[in-house]
Amino acid sequence: MKYYIGADLGTSALKLLLADTDGKIINTVTKSYDVYFPNPGWSEQNPLDWWEALVSGVKELTDGIDKNSVSGIGVGGQMHGLVILDENDEVIRPAILWNDGRTQKEVDYLNNTIGKEKLASLTGNIAFAGFTAPKILWLKENEPENFGRISKIMLPKDYINYRLTGVHSIDYSDASGTLLLDVENKCWSCEMLRICDVSEKQLPKLFESYDKTGVILPEILSELGLDGDVTVVAGAGDNAAAAIGTGTVLNGKCNISLGTSGTFFVSSDNYAKLNNNAIHSFCHANGDYHIMGCILSAASCNKWLCEDILKTNDYNEEQAEITDEKLGCNDVFFLPYLMGERSPINDTDARGVLIGMRLDTKRSDIVQAVLEGVAFAVRDNFEIAKEAGVNISRSTLCGGGAKSPLWRKIMANVLNIPIDIPSAEEGPGFGGAVLAMIGDGVYRNVSECAEKFVSVKGTVMPDADTVRRYNKQYNKFRQIYPSLKEVFKELK
Ligand code: XUL
Repeated sequence: MKYYIGADLGTSALKLLLADTDGKIINTVTKSYDVYFPNPGWSEQNPLDWWEALVSGVKELTDGIDKNSVSGIGVGGQMHGLVILDENDEVIRPAILWNDGRTQKEVDYLNNTIGKEKLASLTGNIAFAGFTAPKILWLKENEPENFGRISKIMLPKDYINYRLTGVHSIDYSDASGTLLLDVENKCWSCEMLRICDVSEKQLPKLFESYDKTGVILPEILSELGLDGDVTVVAGAGDNAAAAIGTGTVLNGKCNISLGTSGTFFVSSDNYAKLNNNAIHSFCHANGDYHIMGCILSAASCNKWLCEDILKTNDYNEEQAEITDEKLGCNDVFFLPYLMGERSPINDTDARGVLIGMRLDTKRSDIVQAVLEGVAFAVRDNFEIAKEAGVNISRSTLCGGGAKSPLWRKIMANVLNIPIDIPSAEEGPGFGGAVLAMIGDGVYRNVSECAEKFVSVKGTVMPDADTVRRYNKQYNKFRQIYPSLKEVFKELK
């Protein structure tokens, strides 16, 4: 039997899985690491922590199985993070992550001075604080010495792939989020490189996600306790990998992820030219394209409330009192902007807000408001997609938040669509393993795997009354941010 490792290089942890060629998951291992917030709104991680997690995690994952039987690895990784290496391929400084908000000045320069229209014509997208290009400009301005030492710029999962193979690679789905890629034509944009003062030599080579970029280097094989030729594929951004893992590969199919971030992802056969660019138009890991909206804090809002504020790990207990008749009837509202917000409002100053409490407000009302606030923020993105003519009629749901039956129900009713729960919970990791199987020649393409592997274990249908109530609630929710927008600017 041949086995494939799928890795999900997340923000809170590296989640590894081992799958056989029938798509059966044999084992899973999770290794956590820290996120550092060196200044308010900043967010960094140490790439060496990711690597250590991978080495110890793979050993644990493959413990007790024939070392020769592991034939490939595919990584889906947190997107947009700036990883920079010097001429000896050593990490220059900690990675600046996708939810880091330090680059408002650079975003304003790109969107207003270079201009949104020009950016959209060069890349298919406009600038958001988490994207890689504004971080490069920030570095040039604020850490010129580090900027001058850059030999290679890469994204988080590409660092892992580099350590495994010695090859500097990047795939189109992840490269889309750098704002340096001409997404429609799948090549680096020379003009964007000029604007950011970097050269093509400093960027990794572009691949399709399922392309084999190399094999694990002999010295790394022994460190990992593996043997033989182990194929490494270029991998994908975590959302594109999750789309592969949840079968979101046909035109118009949608997947929503409630992880640290919250995203909705619609697969498309063709490049999507969006008029307002408030959401993203990127390459997909199946060789095609997709559109995506991303909120910066999703399951992380619930984690923050339960663990940091209420001091509990028992999420189920916190949700137990929230029965069906309470859905759509909460007086408390929550703006989930704990790290500012990406799409559609593109505002690094935005903050988390709880509003509407009275003396009779209960703890569970606040818990409910947090789950609902995240759903409303995802709906904000849905509305933008709808305006752009993208009709989403149902969706799969994955990520940590998808484990909550209550949150599934809230999502189905706030968005008014059936929500399918995929059998494999590990979206990006499973997608990574599938890409590795394709790169290793076991399967021909992503569609073949989706048909063979992906199944749904249940569907949550929206309920007409609850949808009506939530529509009213959503209309109240959407008034809160505009009325606080100017206040947020004063809170720095
Ligand atoms: C997507 C995004 C996040 C991260 C989370 O654009 O920034 O979903 O990929 O890991």
